[in-house]
Amino acid sequence: MDFLPEKINDYVEKHSQPEPELLQKLNRETWQKQLQPRMLSGHLQGRVLSTLSKLIQPKNILEIGTYTGYSALCLAEGMQENGELHTIDINEELFDFQRKYFDESPFGKQIFQHLGNALEIIPKLEKTFDLVFIDADKNNYPNYLEIIFPKLKKGSVILSDNVLWSGKVVEKVKDDDIDTKALLQYNKLLNEHPKLETVLLPIRDGLTISRVVD
Ligand SMILES: C[S@@+](CC[C@H](N)C(=O)[O-])C[C@H]1O[C@@H](n2cnc3c(N)ncnc32)[C@H](O)[C@@H]1O
Repeated sequence: MDFLPEKINDYVEKHSQPEPELLQKLNRETWQKQLQPRMLSGHLQGRVLSTLSKLIQPKNILEIGTYTGYSALCLAEGMQENGELHTIDINEELFDFQRKYFDESPFGKQIFQHLGNALEIIPKLEKTFDLVFIDADKNNYPNYLEIIFPKLKKGSVILSDNVLWSGKVVEKVKDDDIDTKALLQYNKLLNEHPKLETVLLPIRDGLTISRVVD
């Protein structure tokens, strides 16, 4: 999933903002108690999300794919004082774990958890979002783009995670690999969309920034 050699990654992390204490604790507990801890954004990508959010200063944030809440807390760092972060996950077993960490942060009252399938929940959210982070089931990325679009405005930013999919996007795709196929379609959609300006950053497993220009 990581394209940088370990030594370079260590150097990059040492010369970037340190991982806040609460996130270090969340990171450790995720690795101790949860399945698939590699899904968590981690130190470097977390600081990238935090910095981007601080630059955007969003009022409303939407996250698709909460997992243990790491990226939600990073994005919340840039949220306006009266802002809201809505985060969706289908796995009910993660709900209390997420809440515990949200409540330990300064953003507890501004973070709203939604439990269920994001494809069903998003159309019911009556909000406009300044920042959206897409980090759930890869085969639905093109569908997420379609259903979030009516909830964006000029200047809104979409961040999309895992767009390089461990490098599979540049290899021969197996017939039954629906995730890689969807990501290939999604990356093309983002880059060719007439209302988006897109740059794909080779950070961690690939993180795309797309800005709504019209
Ligand atoms: C890669 S993890 C998210 C990691 C998290 N954003 C972070 O960086 O710490 C993906 C999450 O998406 C959730 N998920 C998968 N399919 C979903 C769906 N259809 N609707 C909502 N959540 C979904 C999974 O339960 C999992 O917790």
